[in-house]
Amino acid sequence: MKIGIIGTGYVGLPAGLCLSKFGNDVICIDKNEKIINNLKNKISPIYEQGLQELLNTEKVNYTTDIKTVENCELIIIAVGTPTGEDGVSADLTYIYDVANELSKLKLNNTIIAIKSTVPVGTNDKVKEIINNSSIKMASYPEFLREGYAIYDFMCPDRIIIGVEDFATADRIKSIYPKAFAGKFIVTDIKSTELIKYASNAFLAIKINYINEIANICEKVGANIELVAKGMGADSRIGNKFLKAGAGYGGSCFPKDTRALLQLALNEGVDMPLVRATIIENEERKIELAYKILNNLPNEVGCRVAILGLAFKENTDDCRESASTVIIKTLLKNNVRINAFDVNEGARKRIERSFNNDEYIYIQDNVTKACEGVDAIVIMNDGSPIKWNEINPCNKLIFDFRGIIDKKYLEGLGYKVFKIGVKD
Ligand code: NAD
Ligand code: UGA
Repeated sequence: MKIGIIGTGYVGLPAGLCLSKFGNDVICIDKNEKIINNLKNKISPIYEQGLQELLNTEKVNYTTDIKTVENCELIIIAVGTPTGEDGVSADLTYIYDVANELSKLKLNNTIIAIKSTVPVGTNDKVKEIINNSSIKMASYPEFLREGYAIYDFMCPDRIIIGVEDFATADRIKSIYPKAFAGKFIVTDIKSTELIKYASNAFLAIKINYINEIANICEKVGANIELVAKGMGADSRIGNKFLKAGAGYGGSCFPKDTRALLQLALNEGVDMPLVRATIIENEERKIELAYKILNNLPNEVGCRVAILGLAFKENTDDCRESASTVIIKTLLKNNVRINAFDVNEGARKRIERSFNNDEYIYIQDNVTKACEGVDAIVIMNDGSPIKWNEINPCNKLIFDFRGIIDKKYLEGLGYKVFKIGVKD
């Protein structure tokens, strides 16, 4: 099928390349000229495992000209829906901009599928704006994880399609290989819009819950890894998303939990569980920053190594990363930072966002980052550290990802704070 994808970010680009791999004729559109020029030269705007290989092999067209979608049978909208100016709702500006542009085009019997995460009712509004009786809307949310985008798109747990009629669902199903037949759940548009938010918020709550259990472990002397293993063996609970850490970050859980709560409040429905998760998750990052501050030597000019800058390993995305919050809090308290991430893109993004701060030093080598610091903070499990090669001035480690061997490092003379384990 001839498919146009509008927005070539963390979702649009992997989706476009995978759909091309499935045999579709794909055109990727983005309003950002630099991104499109780079893509024409096979340079990706993002880091994603396996993406470069597909970029090199798939014959996808890249353009800034939205008019090119006129002869597409399916148009997929994958632009951003960040938190808006009110600090809570989803900002639908990019979605409505696209809808306005599509309203000016000659579309005939086209399916407009919204892959962006959007509040219930957005598909209806987009249809109203496009104002073309021949089009069909479809809510077609994406469930991929950054870092595993290609794998998740190629091997999804499920593909949810919310449609006005079954014929539209059948046309969307036809862009996938036959082996995907058992993956589809076809439902109405509003239910699909809500499935996406409800799924993300559920996972966020699960993470928040295990973080609360980790807090108890630290007091009573239980071990969070073992507790999570024991809980996860119950198939009703499941062993995924039970890794305690510094609180969830990223471009989606934080903004989507806020948007879901706001969506509910707009309808007069409260969601105390989601509200508590949002608050606790934000507080957790600040509390962990103070845990570091309270254990640093009481001197001016302390220096801390932050290892892991992206919101999780395997990505360059630093949006709402726990590291960013911790770095900001430490800088405010006059601590100097050596910042490191194995991913070069993540290092560059952090360098740009802390551009004017003279107290943050971006390091391109983990050993160098740990040299002469008062504390080492592990934020994600992407940085392999050769402990015998580093030489900090104070042997203080904060493991906020729960990955190091506490006993081994205590044997080397370190004082270790590990998430979910008694000090
Ligand atoms: P992104 O910011 O990485 O990419 C969005 C792209 O859209 C940008 O390149 C931007 O230039 C482009 N764009 C904006 N307005 C445009 C317009 N009018 N015409 C053409 N291009 C335009 O965003 P993302 O992370 O890919 O997220 C996109 C949507 O998918 C969001 O709603 C998000 O919640 C959802 N989602 C994201 C993920 C994820 O892992 N990032 C996973 C599932 C769902
Ligand atoms: C998440 C969902 O997993 C995807 O299904 C969804 O499509 C996507 O959001 C989205 O809508 O954008 P992603 O944000 O890429 O994907 O990353 P996750 O792997 O879910 O991690 C999110 C955050 O939770 C990270 O900060 C991670 O470190 C944290 N996390 C995750 C934990 O602290 N513990 C866990 O057990 C799992």
